[in-house]
Amino acid sequence: MGMVGGGRDAFIGAVHRLAACMDGHVAVVAGALASTPEKSLASGRDLGLDPSRVYPDWQTMLAAECKLPREQRIDFVSIVTPNFMHFPIAKAFAEAGIHVVCDKPMVLTSAQAKELCAITAAQKVVFGVTYNYSGYPMVKQARDLVRSGELGDIRRVVVEYHQGWLATPLESSGQKQAGWRTDPARSGAGAIGDIGSHAEQLASYITGLELDSICADLSTFLPGRRVDDDAAVMMRFAPRNGVAARGMLIASQIQAGCENDLTIRIGGSKGTLTWSQEDPNFLVLRSDGQPERIFRRGNPYLGNLAKASARVPSGHPEGFIEAFANVYNSIAAAIRAGAGGPQAATEFDFPGVIDGARGVHFIERAIASSQSQNKWTEARFTA
Ligand SMILES: NC(=O)c1ccc[n+]([C@@H]2O[C@H](COP(=O)([O-])OP(=O)(O)OC[C@H]3O[C@@H](n4cnc5c(N)ncnc54)[C@H](O)[C@@H]3O)[C@@H](O)[C@H]2O)c1
Repeated sequence: MGMVGGGRDAFIGAVHRLAACMDGHVAVVAGALASTPEKSLASGRDLGLDPSRVYPDWQTMLAAECKLPREQRIDFVSIVTPNFMHFPIAKAFAEAGIHVVCDKPMVLTSAQAKELCAITAAQKVVFGVTYNYSGYPMVKQARDLVRSGELGDIRRVVVEYHQGWLATPLESSGQKQAGWRTDPARSGAGAIGDIGSHAEQLASYITGLELDSICADLSTFLPGRRVDDDAAVMMRFAPRNGVAARGMLIASQIQAGCENDLTIRIGGSKGTLTWSQEDPNFLVLRSDGQPERIFRRGNPYLGNLAKASARVPSGHPEGFIEAFANVYNSIAAAIRAGAGGPQAATEFDFPGVIDGARGVHFIERAIASSQSQNKWTEARFTA
């Protein structure tokens, strides 16, 4: 694996490296790790990478790696830069036939997303998007329970992601992650893009429901801030079995004291599921006329996907990095199997380029709805 971004002082790059390498399927061998050549080289030294494969920028990395014999060249690139850089980097590597892992939101516009879908199909590359919450074993169990009909017809989806780290004008203090996230040119959007995209993907992964229309209310609480920092989106889904589910999505970064409080509740005609990211090792199912059931990670009664994505016995907690590693493991399995194209994501159970494109579409439609006087806004997505 080669990495673009994730140098000194970066946040998620280090998590990607831990996750990718956790189970021994992947090794980091190359990188253009930062926005300046000096910092990239210093960051490569920190990681003990071979200096000949620590590059001053991603263009040099791509050119140099392509010149290496196939067996030495990186199999895939992992892109962990601020959002606005994702598109040119992903496009260039995918066009060169190098598999891509890209963090969310995948790109800034639907036009860019469509282009990446087309390149992924034409080049038959594996393209993963690190919507890491769908890597949790109990999220996979939730998906299984919905699919097997345990909940009956889905009627109500409520997904909430509450953070508090932008409750103050942190960007004015020079804090790097807050700086680019609140700059629309570099982030594309605020809370709706940064964490609303995760919430949308989590709901989609578990329920498989398709959005029909949305009604969004995006707000900016901090004076002078240039992106939304709080979002509420009502959702109407396309009917399934004649039932059109309704939903509510909240993505807020200004709720003081909240950390990564992501919770999803899915209510159906027979039962209701609840899962929370800050306590991810169990899943609650409440059914009509029955005592509450609690599914716990690492137990033999779970579905195959939930069982296969856990590492240690029940009672030993697993968390964020293990879930992230599950996404990487599925991507690595697809690459090793010689799979490629957008459909590899479905076959190997990881979030792919179409999920990334759907996420970008959702962000765009939410912004359009919030700005519109005609509140209900068509939000159907076609890949
Ligand atoms: N999946 C998740 O849970 C999750 C969590 C946090 C961030 N993210 C996403 O990951 C990405 C990075 O976020 P972050 O918080 O780590 O940001 P960050 O600011 O901490 O790190 C960004 C890194 O990219 C580097 N960079 C910038 N321009 C570059 C260039 N041209 N070439 C090479 N490197 C360059 C910076 O030097 C830095 O090392 C964003 O897209 C963000 O949305 C995802």
